[in-house]
Amino acid sequence: MTMNSASMEEELQLQKNIDEAKEALELLTRQKGRPLRSSIVTFGCQMNARDSEKLRGICEAVGFEDTEREEEADFILYNTCTVRENADQHVYGRLGILTGLKKKNPDLIVGLCGCMMQEEQVVAKIRKSYPVVELIFGTHNLFTFPKLLARILKERRRVIELWDGTDRIVEHLPVKRKYKFKSGVNIMFGCNNFCSYCIVPYVRGRERSRDARDILGEIRTLAADGVREIMLLGQNVNSYGKTLADSIRFPELLRMAARTEGIDRVRFMTSHPKDLSDELIEVMASESSICPHLHLPVQSGSTRILKRMNRHYTREDYLQLVSRIRSAMPDISLTPDIIVGFPGETEEDFAETLSLVREVGFDSAFTFLYSKRSGTPAAVWEEQVDDETAHRRFDRLLETVRISAEKACARFEGRTMEVLVEEENKEPGLVSGRIPHNLTVHFPGTKEQIGQLVPVRLVECKGFYYVGEQVKIMQA
Ligand code: SAH
Ligand code: SF4
Ligand code: F3S
Repeated sequence: MTMNSASMEEELQLQKNIDEAKEALELLTRQKGRPLRSSIVTFGCQMNARDSEKLRGICEAVGFEDTEREEEADFILYNTCTVRENADQHVYGRLGILTGLKKKNPDLIVGLCGCMMQEEQVVAKIRKSYPVVELIFGTHNLFTFPKLLARILKERRRVIELWDGTDRIVEHLPVKRKYKFKSGVNIMFGCNNFCSYCIVPYVRGRERSRDARDILGEIRTLAADGVREIMLLGQNVNSYGKTLADSIRFPELLRMAARTEGIDRVRFMTSHPKDLSDELIEVMASESSICPHLHLPVQSGSTRILKRMNRHYTREDYLQLVSRIRSAMPDISLTPDIIVGFPGETEEDFAETLSLVREVGFDSAFTFLYSKRSGTPAAVWEEQVDDETAHRRFDRLLETVRISAEKACARFEGRTMEVLVEEENKEPGLVSGRIPHNLTVHFPGTKEQIGQLVPVRLVECKGFYYVGEQVKIMQA
C-alpha cells in the first residue's frame, strides 16, 4: 500500500489512540474481574456494514470481546442509517430498550455513530431526550473512534465529536470481517448526485475516490487471508476516479480487481445508470470472475418523475442501457431500486413504473415507499402523495415484481452452477449460498462447505430462490 509521511503520521497517531484506549480498558477489566464485551449493531447499506467491520476491528484491537447479545455487552454502539424515516424510528425505539438495560447495568456505555448523527436535529434530540447515549460521532470522523473511546473509558462523561465534512480518506484502520470468505472493499466515499429525495449526499459528504493502489493492495491482502469474493463499494461506482489525479476509471479498476490472484468473484454496487459506460459492459462481459449481476437502480419508470428526481436519464435511456447490457451478457441478472409515491407521482407515472418492471423482467427488486427527508428538495414540494395511495401502489408494485421475477428467475432451472456456500440453513442438513447471478440456492450440505465453491444443479426455482443438489465432478 502507498505510504507517504502524512499517512505514516496518521497511522502512528491511530496506534497511539488505540494503545491509550487499551490501557483504559485494561484498568476497567481488572476492576470488573472479567473481560469487557462490545456489541456493534449495524443499520443501513453495505457501506455501513463495511464501516462496522472497522469499528469492530478497533474494538478488538482495544481489547473488547465481541458479542451479538446486547444484554451482555458493556459497550453498545449503533451504526445508524437515515435514508428513510423508518430507519430513524427503529433506532429511537431501540434506545428506549437500552435505557432499560442501563438501569440494570449502570456501567453500560451506549454510543451512536453513522449517518443519522450527521443531522443536527437528530443530535439535538438525542442530547436532550436520550441521556442513555454517552458517545456520539459521525461518518466523517469514524477514524477518531479510538481517541473518543479512550476518552470515555477514562473520564466516563458524555463525549460528542462531529465534523461537517472531510476531504480525507484514512487507510490502515483495523478490520474485523463478518465473513471469512467474502468482503466489501470501499472504492469511494460520499456522493455528488443530489437526487432530489435523497439524504445521502448531506450525511456522507462530497465524493472522494480511494487511490487505486490502496484498493488493489487491500484486495491482495484479503485474497491472502482467504477471501474469495469481493464487493467494490460506492454510492455511484461509475464515477470512480473523477476526484483523482490519475486517469484510472471504474472499468479499469474493475478489470484489475478481477485479475487479482485468489479472487474468484467480483461484485460491485451501486451503479448509477447515467454514468454506466460501454467500456464497463465490455469489461464485465470479458472477465470471467466478474459476476453477471448488475444492481441498477431505476427509481421510477416515468421520465417526468425521473426528471423531478434529478436522475439525469429518461425511461428510454434506461431501457436502451438494459438492451446494450443484455446484448453483451444475455443471461445477466438485473435488479433495481424503485421508489413509490414520490411527490407528484400520478397514476399514469406509476403505471409506467409497472410497465417498465414487466418489460425488463428483473430478477428481484428493492422497493421503497417514498420517505420525506428534511433538508432534501423534494421534502418541501407540495404535491406529496397521500399515504393510502402510496401504500396501495406499493402493494401493486410488489405483486408485479413477484410475477415478473418468478418468470425471470426460472431461466436457470436444470442448469448446474457454482455456488459459493455462505451459511447453514435454518433447516437442518441444508446449506445456502449464491450463484454468480446472486440468486440464493439451498441444497443438502455441511457446514464444512462454508466458503467453498460447489457445483450445484438448480433443481427447482421457488420464486426468488432455488432448491438444488450438489453435483459430483468426475476426476479426470
Ligand atoms: N447510491 C445508490 C442508492 C443509495 S440509497 C443509487 O443511487 O443507486 C438506496 C436506495 O434507497 C435508493 O436507490 C432509493 O431507491 C432509496 N431511497 C433513497 N432515498 C429515499 C427516500 N427518501 N425515500 C424512499 N427511498 C429512498
Ligand atoms: Fe442518493 Fe442519488 Fe447519491 Fe444514490 S446517487 S446516494 S440515490 S443522491
Ligand atoms: Fe443509510 Fe447512510 Fe447507507 S443513510 S443507506 S447507511 S449511506
